[in-house]
Amino acid sequence: MAARPKIGFIGVGMMGQLAHLANYARLRDSGDCEIAGVSDLQPLLARAVGKKYNVHVYENNAQLLADPTVNAVVCIQQWPNNYQLVKQILQAGKSVLTEKPMVGRLDEAQELMALAREKGLLYAVGFMKRYDTGVELARQLLNEVRASDELGPLLSVDAQCDGGDWLQNTGTPIKVDNTTPLPPLCPTYPDGCTTPQQQAAYGYLVNIFAHNINLCHYLLGSEMTVYAAQFQADHSMQALLRHEGVPVTVRGASSFSPDWREYTTFTFQRGELIIKTPVPMNRQQAARVIVTRSSQRGYVTTEYHAPIDWAFFREAQGFVRALTGEQLLRAPAETCLWDVRVMERIIQIAEVL
Ligand SMILES: NC(=O)c1ccc[n+]([C@@H]2O[C@H](COP(=O)([O-])OP(=O)(O)OC[C@H]3O[C@@H](n4cnc5c(N)ncnc54)[C@H](O)[C@@H]3O)[C@@H](O)[C@H]2O)c1
Repeated sequence: MAARPKIGFIGVGMMGQLAHLANYARLRDSGDCEIAGVSDLQPLLARAVGKKYNVHVYENNAQLLADPTVNAVVCIQQWPNNYQLVKQILQAGKSVLTEKPMVGRLDEAQELMALAREKGLLYAVGFMKRYDTGVELARQLLNEVRASDELGPLLSVDAQCDGGDWLQNTGTPIKVDNTTPLPPLCPTYPDGCTTPQQQAAYGYLVNIFAHNINLCHYLLGSEMTVYAAQFQADHSMQALLRHEGVPVTVRGASSFSPDWREYTTFTFQRGELIIKTPVPMNRQQAARVIVTRSSQRGYVTTEYHAPIDWAFFREAQGFVRALTGEQLLRAPAETCLWDVRVMERIIQIAEVL
């Protein structure tokens, strides 16, 4: 791989522009990567975005994928498009990064992962919270307290996301007036997920709680099992899981708030560690980590503030460094596939009210 990988973009909608292309443009300007160009089913949008970021505009995806100078593609789409597009990208011999969730079904995830392996390509999923500086610190602290047994045994994990304003100071993406009608999305669902209520619940699960499940997997280090779940369609949910005998709850409600309310709590016999993950699109926040330890004088609570850096920027940096071989991917398809299996299981056993 070249020292400066050349990256193409398929899909320059809101997230494609603000959370991805803008960060790769920074990395291009600092000499870390090259941007081959962009492609979007809305040609006017592609042209306007290409002009703003001073990048080439391909006529279509096929032209981008046929460009032998492109090493990798950042494919930022609504999730139902991921399976078909990632297959085309990998078949064209390019590494790929998509947004989350990976795909709708486990068999699709397994097929794509096998294809990436067969071709020797990188397949990254956009779970940017793994790149958050606070999450990085929390993982380190968690591993330390578990190895030293300082807080005693881990008793439970609770991952909660009640949402809120996820945009805050994000800026405005380019929009075009004359939009080209897009083909309808054709989501694929796990076997048994057939009713409109189940499908709405699954959409809610994979859009929001994929992050929380993914973060638990990252912090715990191996796959969880599922044993109960309940949804009020796409308004609220709770799922009961287990990791090596420790109960894990994933839960939340879809509610409005000026704050972003997302917490992952590890409760130990003699203390706890809480991670407050920030507003996803806010460039000026990192996760806060709060550790409470019991002492002879009572409980001592320490709040840790990691350096501020935007998780989406660090994710872009991580993908570029993985392409050059400097660093391993932090959210590779291999481990993000655990989330797909867990989410399939959740919807298959869930009571959907
Ligand atoms: N990580 C996070 O916290 C987070 C937050 C919000 C959204 N997301 C994810 O990002 C995804 C994308 O969001 P968005 O707001 O950018 O969506 P969007 O609909 O604005 O953008 C998708 C773009 O892809 C284009 N497109 C559609 N089909 C195409 C095709 N076959 N080939 C080329 N281009 C095509 C569309 O014209 C559009 O411009 C969401 O579905 C969600 O999964 C993640």
